[in-house]
Amino acid sequence: MLVTIEDVLTKEELASARQLLGQSQWVSGQVTAGPQAAQVKNNLQLPENAAALPGLRQLVLDALNRTPVFFAAALPLKILPPFFNRYSGASNTYGFHTDNAMRLAPDRPGTYVRSDISATLFLSEPEDYDGGVLTIDDTFGKHGVKLKAGSLVVYPSSSIHGVTPVGRGERVSCFMFIQSMVRDQGQRQLLYDMDMALLKLRQEVGETEPVVKLTGTYHNLLRRWAET
Ligand code: NI
Repeated sequence: MLVTIEDVLTKEELASARQLLGQSQWVSGQVTAGPQAAQVKNNLQLPENAAALPGLRQLVLDALNRTPVFFAAALPLKILPPFFNRYSGASNTYGFHTDNAMRLAPDRPGTYVRSDISATLFLSEPEDYDGGVLTIDDTFGKHGVKLKAGSLVVYPSSSIHGVTPVGRGERVSCFMFIQSMVRDQGQRQLLYDMDMALLKLRQEVGETEPVVKLTGTYHNLLRRWAET
């Protein structure tokens, strides 16, 4: 399941994120790559000790918190602190790879976050760089994703994916790993589809008795499948 969400960041947040990122020093993206991903990863990343990182992370997490479609699609249980990367010049691509299933939680030593869902928040305008297409290979083939700045894509961490080389300009983005309350991708998809359909139905016919019943069914399925 691949879900794109527009305008997750406001114009003001985008401007302040860019300002913070503009003052930062970047390091090789190898710092968070597993051995297999490290062979194809050639980009830059904000280091953990970057002064701007806590503020940037808070800005992104606040934005996710007020975005109901993100909640519906990801059903997040734990979000690993967001990372920031940059593709430009000689460090401009990330070949096809899969994300590590388990990641150490930096804020809680010795504990792990299971990566069910990966997300990319685009911070550069698409017309400001060539290439840099996030390419996701799922059961229905390859999907290219290049969104306007401030928009987010959510996709399964289990997919094979990569970023095509950036030929001109620079592509800055935020990437995240999320453990979902609903581990199974098929169950997550059913819940998302039902939630979105109910949202439309509610707008079209109001809180009728069947809508209330179906809403109850959604929550009962969530009760059955969610782990906290
Ligand atoms: Ni990845």
